[in-house]
Amino acid sequence: MQYRRFGRTGWQTSEIGYGMWGMGAWTGSDDSESLAALERSVELGCNFFDTAWVYGDGRSETLLGRIVRRNPAKKLYLASKVPPKNRAWPAADRHTVDDCYPPAHITEYVEKSLKNLGVEAIDLIQLHTWNDDWAGDPRIPEVFERLKTSGKVRAAGISLNRWQPANGIEAVRAGFIDSVQVVYNIFDQNPEDQLFPACRERDVAVIARVPFDEGSLTGTLTPASRWPAGDWRNGYFSPENLRNTLARVAALEPLLPESVTLPELALRFILANADVATVIPGMRKKRNVEANLASSDRGALSADLVTALRAHRWDRKFTPESLSARAKRKLAGLLRR
Ligand SMILES: NC(=O)c1ccc[n+]([C@@H]2O[C@H](COP(=O)([O-])OP(=O)(O)OC[C@H]3O[C@@H](n4cnc5c(N)ncnc54)[C@H](OP(=O)(O)O)[C@@H]3O)[C@@H](O)[C@H]2O)c1
Repeated sequence: MQYRRFGRTGWQTSEIGYGMWGMGAWTGSDDSESLAALERSVELGCNFFDTAWVYGDGRSETLLGRIVRRNPAKKLYLASKVPPKNRAWPAADRHTVDDCYPPAHITEYVEKSLKNLGVEAIDLIQLHTWNDDWAGDPRIPEVFERLKTSGKVRAAGISLNRWQPANGIEAVRAGFIDSVQVVYNIFDQNPEDQLFPACRERDVAVIARVPFDEGSLTGTLTPASRWPAGDWRNGYFSPENLRNTLARVAALEPLLPESVTLPELALRFILANADVATVIPGMRKKRNVEANLASSDRGALSADLVTALRAHRWDRKFTPESLSARAKRKLAGLLRR
């Protein structure tokens, strides 16, 4: 495992971290399978774990706490997230700090996450949604500062809404966050345009999330892929979107070097960008942990291959204000978390 500097915190975090949404909230999760996968990741050198209170209302955080207690000699960096008070994913233009993150709500959820994790301090606390109109509200930097001074959190960040990488630049420039979490993968390359340069300038760590586009870039989906009733992926991969996505996945196949799998290519494309501090694939199975963590030691992709992959950029737009109330509710459900 290779390690990278986590922005201004100076931490050395594994360049492949661990995404913990699936094990908390997706159908088919099994706690003993998840714990075995987490334990294997620690053995293989993973030291950065991204969870959230809302991932199973504490289930994912509780699993992480168990792993921390099983590995007292290892420094594991724990990142969690405060859910918006109004439970709206993503944050809409009209939502205010009082709707989503009044200071007392942030403090309350830090306490809940500390309890679930069973630790005295959370390394990184993130707001689970963001609206850049809030960047000028002094209450957010103040509450982050109070939490740091009290020793309950060591660093603070924001998680940007899906497909809105520019909707966080003001916060980066304002100087009160240590990290941003953003969707970045072979399709979603637009954080490179403005967000990454701003993070570089302010030494803000970039956490690249959803490296496999929720599964399409693992190469395991087919036109017949469906999930159990209630699983959010049935909405994200609606038949039409699944068809379009699979056509784009198929277009990548001719670029795969011999003995490189599609998930490995997806991770190494992200790691080719030095602006990324860590990439956090979602994993519940040991075999996926072993395959993904091995990608770190496979070295850089050739510059030619990275250039060829750039042509597969897919700019997707989400404009909630332009939708009907019904469509907004449906899309918010699809895109949440
Ligand atoms: N708003 C936010 O802040 C937000 C939103 C979304 C995600 N996140 C964070 O980002 C993390 C990553 O995103 P994600 O989990 O949504 O999606 P993802 O990483 O793009 O994809 C996860 C899927 O890929 C599968 N997978 C992983 N490695 C594989 C491999 N080598 N071969 C085949 N399949 C493989 C996983 O299977 P198994 O699960 O069965 O192992 C899971 O179905 C989340 O877990 C979460 O921590 C944050």
